Amino acid sequence: MAVLIDHPCVQHKLAIIRNVDTGHKRFRELATEITKFICYEALKNIKTKVVKVQTPVAEATCRKIDTDVVVVPILRAGVGMLEGILELVPTARVGFVGLYRDEETKKPVTYYERFPPQIKGGTCIIIDPMLATGGSTVATIDMLKEHGADSIVVICIVTCPEGIALVESKHPDVPIYAAAIDDRLDEKKYIVPGLGDAGDRLFGTSHKE
Ligand code: PRP
Ligand code: URA
Repeated sequence: MAVLIDHPCVQHKLAIIRNVDTGHKRFRELATEITKFICYEALKNIKTKVVKVQTPVAEATCRKIDTDVVVVPILRAGVGMLEGILELVPTARVGFVGLYRDEETKKPVTYYERFPPQIKGGTCIIIDPMLATGGSTVATIDMLKEHGADSIVVICIVTCPEGIALVESKHPDVPIYAAAIDDRLDEKKYIVPGLGDAGDRLFGTSHKE
């Protein structure tokens, strides 16, 4: 299942982050802001418990989050979305997956993984701005499930039908939340129109800027 966050405030920010003239400082700020909005929607049905809170006036019946939230950025570009999640869920734990796409094969190559034990029984949020072929996301879901995770959501900024189809075919239980579902992949497996190389744009490592 893919959920498009079509809210005007998100779409306005998306128009700016896509712009080739947006520099890395603004790109980073926008990645944080957009992620926060998407996460807000993605956690709509997260488990809560009823608690009683004494206000200065009377006792109120309230709800608090009742699950361990574990956010898993896919290195490197996923780190650019971490702050947005932590602003919304400051108590979230953080696991890391190091993956890059081999330039020839376009397949993900894993170089690092480190997860907190709370992935078992908790709610895992995979973050990566670009879900292109879906290979990196599927590899990360595979790893999390091998370590016992059974509640996983994916948050990206831009995806496309090919990537969604791969994730849905391998992991139909994992929903994808995105600010954009673009047209297609090009011959280099970049999302079109997309926003270019998200890692380079986030961290200022492109020679073009
Ligand atoms: C990008 C992106 C995803 C992956 C998406 O990472 O951040 O991790 O490609 O592609 P896929 O859906 O086809 O697997 P990249 O390889 O550029 O590494 P980086 O984050 O270190 O820049
Ligand atoms: N990785 C990126 O950074 N951008 C794409 O469009 C695809 C993969």
